[in-house]
Amino acid sequence: MENLNAYPGFYELAATRYSCRNYLPKPVGRDLIAAILDTARLAPSACNRQPWTFIVLDSRQGRQMVLDSYPRDFIKPVGTFIVACARHNESWHRASDGKDHADIDVAIAVEHICLAASSLGLGSCWICNFDHVALHRDLKLPADTEPIAIIPIGYPDPEAKPSPKKRMSLDEIVRWENS
Ligand SMILES: Cc1cc2nc3c(=O)[nH]c(=O)nc-3n(C[C@H](O)[C@H](O)[C@H](O)COP(=O)(O)O)c2cc1C
Repeated sequence: MENLNAYPGFYELAATRYSCRNYLPKPVGRDLIAAILDTARLAPSACNRQPWTFIVLDSRQGRQMVLDSYPRDFIKPVGTFIVACARHNESWHRASDGKDHADIDVAIAVEHICLAASSLGLGSCWICNFDHVALHRDLKLPADTEPIAIIPIGYPDPEAKPSPKKRMSLDEIVRWENS
C-alpha cells in the first residue's frame, strides 16, 4: 500500500506481532522488561489520567499466582508476567453518561507492551480469560484496582511458527463517507 511506504517499520511491527504460545524456558532480564514498560508509560489515556498499575511477576511464587488464575501449559516456561491493572478511581468517566474509560486506557498501554516486546524479538500474548477474582485476591489489589490483562513476556521458541494472520479486509471493516 502506497501510503504505508513512509513508515514501513511500524507497519512491519504491526504485521509481525502475534500471540506467542510457544516460549523457551529462558528468562528475560529486568532491564528489558523495564524498557518495555517504559513504552506503556508513554501511552495516551483519557484526560491523561494514566489510571494504571503494572505488576511484574518473575518470582516462582508470583508466576504460580498467574498459573493458578490461568492454568495453561503454554505459559509454564514463561519467566515474566506483567499484570496490567486499571485503577477505576483514577480513570476519566465521561460526564454525559458516566462511561469509565479505564479499560480503553489500559488496552492501549497493553498493546504498547506487546509491540515493544515484538520489536525486541520477544514474544507476548494478551491474556484476559483468567480467574480475575483469584488474581485480584492473590495480588492483594485494592478494591478499585482491576486486573485487565496478563501479558507473558519471553523468548519465542524458534521452532514454532506463528499462524498466519486471519483478518477481515479493509472493505469489510471500513465505511468511507459518501461512497
Ligand atoms: C482483549 C484480548 C483478550 C485475549 N485473551 C486471550 C486469552 O485469554 N488467551 C489467549 O491465548 N489469547 C488471548 N488473546 C489473543 C487473541 O486470541 C489474538 O490476539 C487473536 O486471535 C489474533 O491473533 P494474533 O494476536 O496472533 O494476531 C486475547 C486478545 C485480546 C486483544
